[in-house]
Amino acid sequence: MGMLKFNGLDKMYEAKTMKNVRRKIVIAGGLGFLGRTLIKHFANGAYELVVLSRNENELPHAKVVVWDGIHLDQWAAELEGAELLINLAGRSVNCRYNRRNRCAIMDSRVFSTRVLGQAVQGCRKAPGLWINSSTATIYKHRFDSSNDEKDGLIGAHPDAKDAFSVDVALAWEKAFREIDVPGTRKVIARTAMVFGSEEGGVYEVLRKMVCFGLGGKVASGRQYVSWLHEKDFCGAIEWLMAHKEASGVYNLCSPCPLTNREMMKTLRDAIGVSFGLPAMRLILDVGALVLRTEVELMIKSRRVVPARLEGAGYVFTFPCLQGAIKELEQKDKGRK
Ligand SMILES: NC(=O)c1ccc[n+]([C@@H]2O[C@H](COP(=O)([O-])OP(=O)(O)OC[C@H]3O[C@@H](n4cnc5c(N)ncnc54)[C@H](OP(=O)(O)O)[C@@H]3O)[C@@H](O)[C@H]2O)c1
Repeated sequence: MGMLKFNGLDKMYEAKTMKNVRRKIVIAGGLGFLGRTLIKHFANGAYELVVLSRNENELPHAKVVVWDGIHLDQWAAELEGAELLINLAGRSVNCRYNRRNRCAIMDSRVFSTRVLGQAVQGCRKAPGLWINSSTATIYKHRFDSSNDEKDGLIGAHPDAKDAFSVDVALAWEKAFREIDVPGTRKVIARTAMVFGSEEGGVYEVLRKMVCFGLGGKVASGRQYVSWLHEKDFCGAIEWLMAHKEASGVYNLCSPCPLTNREMMKTLRDAIGVSFGLPAMRLILDVGALVLRTEVELMIKSRRVVPARLEGAGYVFTFPCLQGAIKELEQKDKGRK
């Protein structure tokens, strides 16, 4: 009887401590746009959030641990027992692709992936799931049909001026595939443009263009745009955590890509701007030079669909752009 009572108390104590154990998520490069989006989503008390950053910082809902994205160091201990490791580290692609920037874009992605691999291999209790970011840009510039994970065409196209970006995506995925981490589920997230309300995202830029009367079609306007609402970005990550059978490549994008012309019109309608100056190809080339960015980001036809997520039953909160923009605009008005 006494023994039974002791066991019961023991169980109660165990249950109580279990309740206090928070599920650990480590976000490498987590101070950027997508990282902050994830932190906002997971900051509900159930998760212990750790960010790996090159800079010291204090956040209300996450611990920031310094790393350099290249060398194995004490930060690696943070990966012990994590449920999820997600790598979002990488120099922004929104810049001119000169020699220096090209090196930084490539190296920051490949080196961070490799060193995380070494850290995972050194863990006593390795992360259950490792999601490494990739990009929907890996797929071929095309208009005829959609690119899914199984039959999608991969590669660059001279019309899209995307040779460098595709090289980066391929090297990034190769570095990830080469790492052998038995016991850790690996997912490559080929993510499309994420539309969200955190600072530094692409929606902010598009919105400004529309407000300044520059929200017309870009080039021919026929190129497809794949996109994803921030809620579905976080939802997909949560889904991947919950579905222990999920591994390999996943396209993280809405099921309804649309043409640039349709996207710009949807934005103008939602924001309430009736006119948008179209950006002809020549103006675009000059504008990109002035804005220190590359035209590829606007002219490439990214017709990508999330066949694996949809096929496995993931239900998108915002499958269509109208609903997604409406929600973001309402949030924007709420803040003012
Ligand atoms: N945002 C999107 O819509 C989107 C879509 C598709 C793919 N992606 C990819 O997803 C990843 C995250 O996107 P994001 O929008 O969150 O990017 P972001 O805002 O530019 O943040 C990326 C983070 O990477 C870290 N970083 C920058 N340069 C680095 C370097 N040289 N070495 C190591 N770390 C470096 C920075 O963190 P610290 O300065 O704190 O170290 C930065 O906060 C990127 O690789 C991006 O290409 C993004």
